[in-house]
Parts: sequence; structure tokens; C-alpha cells
Amino acid sequence: MSKTNPLGFLADQLDSWREAGTFQRLRKLQSACAPVSRFDGREVINLASNNYLGLTTHPKLIEAAIEATRKYGAGSGAVRTISGTMDLHLELERKIAAFKNVEACVVFQSGFAANAGTVSAILTPEDHIISDALNHASIIDGCRLSRAKIHVFPHRDMEMAEAKLAALAGVPGHKLLITDGVFSMEGDIAPLPALVELAEKYGAIMMVDDAHSSGVLGRAGRGTVDHFGLDGRVQIQVGTLSKAIGVLGGYVCGSRDLIDFLYHRARPFLFSTSHPPSVAASCIAAFDILEQEPERMRDLWKNTEYFRASLKAAGFDTGASETPIIPIMVGQAKTAFAFSRALFEEGLLATGIGFPTVAEGKARIRTIVTATHTAEQLDQATEILERVARTVLH
Ligand SMILES: Cc1ncc(COP(=O)(O)O)c(C=O)c1O
Repeated sequence: MSKTNPLGFLADQLDSWREAGTFQRLRKLQSACAPVSRFDGREVINLASNNYLGLTTHPKLIEAAIEATRKYGAGSGAVRTISGTMDLHLELERKIAAFKNVEACVVFQSGFAANAGTVSAILTPEDHIISDALNHASIIDGCRLSRAKIHVFPHRDMEMAEAKLAALAGVPGHKLLITDGVFSMEGDIAPLPALVELAEKYGAIMMVDDAHSSGVLGRAGRGTVDHFGLDGRVQIQVGTLSKAIGVLGGYVCGSRDLIDFLYHRARPFLFSTSHPPSVAASCIAAFDILEQEPERMRDLWKNTEYFRASLKAAGFDTGASETPIIPIMVGQAKTAFAFSRALFEEGLLATGIGFPTVAEGKARIRTIVTATHTAEQLDQATEILERVARTVLH
């Protein structure tokens, strides 16, 4: 009997991506994540990280990690509910809760786990989720895992969001209105005040994912709730420790009851090992730095405005960006990936993004500036983009 490969269908799919020019090879980072980093043997300007405040290489974070490793070891040894809750984990959670002005906080292994674990824990198939069309994949997966009914409204369309909520008035089940605070591919900000009004009018739970707003928006980077002055009106705030905070992890902030409930029902919390002590210690140091070094956020926004203006002056379409996430709209995925590869050859790393991360026909190059890029680096990046665009886009 001839043997067939039961995974052969994967090779067929990979071949089709190679033919379409959308097959992606992983680039190898051979230095720290910094404004200029070494990828695949080449020094390039790095506009592809989420290291908004430059904290990945901050000496205080590095020292905290080393000290915690010496004192507590390399790993926690267990999931949180068995024996893996260290005093460092609890200290970090207290610190974040105080920072965000909420009763309590729980830290997950990643932002992905925080979103997916929370939505799936609190809702059941009898409930309803009203969700922005461009919400992050971790929200979408959490919604699917909960088996609640999902009602998607077009991106930032408040009329349609209200129509969905109004249609559910009187229908049994809990309602969760959920949005990214800053949208990861567009770089625009959620209309949170209007969403909160809707949630209050229709008795829905309000949840916001501040992955790209923590350390970026609000006082000292407290996020969109603080940015819009909505303290006490958003029941669930998610954030990451993997982006502006510079380390790894995700957190959920809210009432003591919410957090105690998640301790009992959030599956990533119950069934996956807690962070190594080094991670918790570095994150604690990072929250101190948010308060102690406000110039980082100021530099981030100065660089953001400067770079966006340069790109616009050069004739690029930066979409609806209002934050350090600045897309350059291209159209076809194949073109975006070819553009990104050519930029790399000229000394700039800027990611090509295509389907399924964004809709078909909406492919783009995504750039993210950080506080630690210099004006010269940003000028050089604009010059490379203009030069390469002339050959790749025309
Ligand atoms: C909007 C949004 N939410 C959540 C996440 C997940 O965060 P993490 O990388 O910490 O898992 C990301 C990015 O990766 C994101 O862009």
C-alpha cells in the first residue's frame, strides 16, 4: 500500500501562498529590539516593533530581571492557582490596579490570553457580544470561545452599534460592548465616550482592550479610559505588558469581584504557568518609569507627529492614523510584501500586512515609531520609503 502524507494539504496551501507572493519568512533579530536593530545580518532602522517607549533595553528593567532571577530562580514552577503565585506577581497586580485607579487587577501570560481568557470566562451561549469589526484576533477568539452570540458593527460606526444594542433590548442574556482602545492595524482611537454612553443606555458591560494605548495615551500612559476622562465607567480594561511596557504579558483591571471571578474561571489563568519572576520584576520597574520619565511619552508623540507629517508631505496615504501606529496604504498584499522586502534591502524594517490580518485589498506597510528614534533616523526612513516607492509602487 502506498503511503500518503496526511498533512499534504498544508504543503498545497503553502505552495499557493508562494505563488501569490504572500508566503512570509520569519526575520531573525540578532540584537536587542531598538531603533536600529540587526535583522538577518543587516543593521536596519526598526519601524516594526511595539517598543513605544524604548523600555525593552532600559537598564532598570534589565537590572530588575537579573536581581529577581538571582533571588527567585528562572521560573515560577506552577500555574497561579496551584503554587505559582509569587509575591512579585501580586506586587505587580497591586501596582497596576493603583496606576489604573481600579479595585483590582490580574496579570495573564499575554495580552492575547487576557482578552481571550476574560471574554470566554464571563459569558455563556445565552449572552450577546457587540463588537467592532476591526477588534483584535484575541477578542474575536474569546468571543467565539464563549459561544455567546456575536453582533459585529462596522468599524467605529456608532449608529450601527446602537442599532445592534437597540435590537437586543429586552432580549435575555448579558450584553458585552467591546472595542480596541487603539486599533492595531489602523492606528485610530476608539470613540470610547460614545461607546460608554451606549453601554450605559442599554445596560451593557463595557470592555476596552488598551494593548496599544497603555503607555501611549492618558496621563503617564494610563490608557484610553483616562485619556477620555471615563474613570469608573468602563467595567473591564485590558492592557498588555508586551508593548510599551517592554516585557511580556497582559492584564485585566476592574472590580474585585471581576478579578476574583477570573481567578476561578479564566482558563489561561487556571491552566497555564505564571510568568517567570524576571518578567514580573521588569514590569514593576517599567510602571515606575512611566511615572518617573514622562519625557519618554512626550518624545513618542513628538516623533509620531513628525513622522506622520513627513509621510503625508511625501504623498503617502496614512489612512486614519492618530497614534504612533502609522500605516502606509498599498492595496494588494503581494505589493505590500514586495514593498517591505525592498525597504529592507535599503535599510528599513517596516512590516507588510495583508489578508487575513487586514481585509483583502487593504494591504499596507505598517510603521510604528518609538520615543527613542532620532529625527535623523525618521528622515532617513522617509527618504528610503519615497525612493523604494518610486520603483515598487509605480
Ligand atoms: C489590540 C491588541 N490586543 C491584544 C494583543 C495581544 O497582546 P500580546 O502580544 O501581549 O499577546 C495585541 C498584539 O499583539 C493587540 O494588538
